[in-house]
Amino acid sequence: MAVIFLTGFMGAGKTTVGQLLAEQYGYRFIDTDQEIERLHQCSVRTIFQEKGEAQFREIETEVLQKETTSKTVLSTGGGIVLSKANREWLSKEGIWVFLHVTPEEIYQRVKDDPHRPLLDGDPQERIQSLFEQRLSLYNEAPIVIPTSEFTPKEVTVEVMNRIA
Ligand code: S3P
Repeated sequence: MAVIFLTGFMGAGKTTVGQLLAEQYGYRFIDTDQEIERLHQCSVRTIFQEKGEAQFREIETEVLQKETTSKTVLSTGGGIVLSKANREWLSKEGIWVFLHVTPEEIYQRVKDDPHRPLLDGDPQERIQSLFEQRLSLYNEAPIVIPTSEFTPKEVTVEVMNRIA
């Protein structure tokens, strides 16, 4: 087993579950947003504001490709699946997992978090519309794990069962 890619909407628990999975397997853990912030020494929100979303997406793809190395759990930003090239990468270069969470649960989890540039305005409406635009893209993942009613530990066990 080489690389596990965790994808899903913001608030799906990718980072928490990714860290638990990496501990279990003794793998390296990488979060694409954290890596982008480390490389650019500024927040994702600032990159969106100063460089725009298109450039953020390019940086995100570079990080995805560069960090795809053996024995790694890679937690990806919610928009990684927007690019067809990224989806092909996720399918071919590792084990692609989609952590599924309902829009209602996403809202509960992220409503008080100011670090989400794509939710500016009316977050509930934004979540619903992003969810509808993206669900079919996430569903291209061969492994789909529901997370809304489960703890990060339960989700981690389920991911491990599914990829065993
Ligand atoms: C985004 C999700 C964020 C971050 C950026 C854009 C998206 O990551 O990459 O704000 O397009 O859904 P998380 O999914 O880790 O919150």
